[in-house]
Amino acid sequence: MSIDTNRPATHTGDLELRVRSTRTLCTDVRQLVLASAAGTPLPSFTPGSHVALRWSDGLYNAYSLTGPSIEPEFYTVSVRLDENGRGGSRWAHSLREGDLVHLRPPRSDFAPILTARHHVYVAGGIGVTPVLSHVRAAVDWGRSFQVLYAFRPGFGAHFDELTQLCGDRLQAVASATQLEQILDDALADQPLGTHLYSCGPRSMIEAVADAAHAKGWPAARIHSEAFGSGPLDAGLPFAAKLGRSGMIVPVPSGTSLLDVLLDKGINVPNLCRQGVCGECRLSVRGGRIEHRDLYLSEDEKASGDSMMPCVSRAAGDLLELEL
Ligand code: FES
Repeated sequence: MSIDTNRPATHTGDLELRVRSTRTLCTDVRQLVLASAAGTPLPSFTPGSHVALRWSDGLYNAYSLTGPSIEPEFYTVSVRLDENGRGGSRWAHSLREGDLVHLRPPRSDFAPILTARHHVYVAGGIGVTPVLSHVRAAVDWGRSFQVLYAFRPGFGAHFDELTQLCGDRLQAVASATQLEQILDDALADQPLGTHLYSCGPRSMIEAVADAAHAKGWPAARIHSEAFGSGPLDAGLPFAAKLGRSGMIVPVPSGTSLLDVLLDKGINVPNLCRQGVCGECRLSVRGGRIEHRDLYLSEDEKASGDSMMPCVSRAAGDLLELEL
């Protein structure tokens, strides 16, 4: 995961770490190795977890942890430079050995299913980072797995490391067409209890899910973590009623419900603002929701009692929130 916040969010309990080393992994991707400033072991984490690095006052970027997960001496993250972003990745690329950084402790939204008989991983570009930590754990625990890794020439971060860990269980993929062909075979004949994980751009995740559904895979065995929800249309205007106070706030087209609530001084935790991290989840009392996030499951969306206000909107004129 590598996602930019674009609005202040505050958090207490941040860890203070120091940059132990940095190195370039491939074009535009820099690895940071971060150790406790106090020299103490760091909290263990579930494979697939991310940490949010504070890059400015109240502004965080989330990055997947790629290193060992049990009582690690250090955390490693890989940061892809986004020259058009708000500055978090440029800040991370400017860090030097010895610099202090502050981050929120690890959080997991993309954990391996421990009861799975086999794990199929599909990674696209920098989406390889959470897959790397899954693979480390799978190797350590002797789990059955395979990895399909799609990347452009020169942009294959962690490919050598994955090759060492996976051997012939790793397949490099050079194009969307090739991925489609390989998936066709990979998804056709998987034993009961196989789980599928995909991480990368939204278009790839949707293609993987579509391919799995077409092969009859149940949704409960398909897991994903997106790196951004992609461009969304401005949406129609609607109103949100705050259930506790009865206040009604208008949400204009092109403005997110989250922005409106924050502008009203209502503290809604948020991080990615792209519908992928789950941080801004709100309970909904009434009204129909136009879900546009990549975080809630299909069942959660169908139940209609929660939403991600950073991207999702009302499907009608009014939503009533549990706020
Ligand atoms: S802030 Fe991440 S899902 Fe809304």
